[in-house]
Amino acid sequence: MKILAVANQKGGVGKSTLTVHLAYAAIEAGLRVLLVDMDKQGSLSLSFPRADDGEPGIVASRLYEAEPPQASPEWVADGLAIIRADNGLLSIDKAENQVIRRPGTALRRFAQDFDLCLIDTPPLLGVRLMASLAAADYVVTPVSVGLYELAGVADLIQTIHVIRTQGFNPRLKHVGILPMKTNNRSVEEREALDSLREQYGAAILPEVLPERAPVRKAIARRRPVWVGTRGEGHLLAANEWRAACDSILGRIAK
Ligand SMILES: Nc1ncnc2c1ncn2[C@@H]1O[C@H](COP(=O)(O)OP(=O)(O)O)[C@@H](O)[C@H]1O
Ligand SMILES: [Mg+2]
Repeated sequence: MKILAVANQKGGVGKSTLTVHLAYAAIEAGLRVLLVDMDKQGSLSLSFPRADDGEPGIVASRLYEAEPPQASPEWVADGLAIIRADNGLLSIDKAENQVIRRPGTALRRFAQDFDLCLIDTPPLLGVRLMASLAAADYVVTPVSVGLYELAGVADLIQTIHVIRTQGFNPRLKHVGILPMKTNNRSVEEREALDSLREQYGAAILPEVLPERAPVRKAIARRRPVWVGTRGEGHLLAANEWRAACDSILGRIAK
């Protein structure tokens, strides 16, 4: 099982949307996927509600317990299970740094049952984000290219560096930075993206996911944007998202 964290300490940049789409793309490719929702907003839970005959499974805060819990994740579809966010996550940020390694250990218990584990992370630089990065083999970071959002990219890269070099997780690989919700018509944004590529080079993925209305609609309908495409704009979004998800999954398959 490979573990991919989707991380950026900014909210609203598309982390959950990307996590959900990566899950759809991976199950379509025949992978067994485990979703972990570390964000109390519970976006993943909303996208994958409990199946009619579904049993509740282990919740995310229990991954931080000293003894790895024995309970299993909750199955929501064939080849797809979830560890849902819960209220207990709120107290985790007040916990000591020593809990940072625990979710990684707890998740490895499921290594035989899944091919890919996707962790959606909360929009703050805290224990839960650190623990997600400590557990992960890979991290991908969606960013929006507005002035305020970009200011956070250096912080995030620094956090990844800390996780790698301070003994938490030397094997963490940065898949890359994915420019999200971009607006091709904005000159400022195009310039910001250019300067981002200048500054960070190959760390910026070649794919870009522009702001497209069909993405919101697809999320509201609980399906990936590439299902049930209607019209040119929708098809465009479908192709962009499909290509970006396949590219990211391809980079971690190697
Ligand atoms: N490429 C996109 N085009 C249009 N809307 C998007 C796109 N990516 C994300 N969104 C929307 O932006 C909002 C925030 O995305 P979300 O994934 O919840 O961000 P985060 O998890 O980083 O807080 C959601 O309403 C989502 O549907
Ligand atoms: Mg989210």
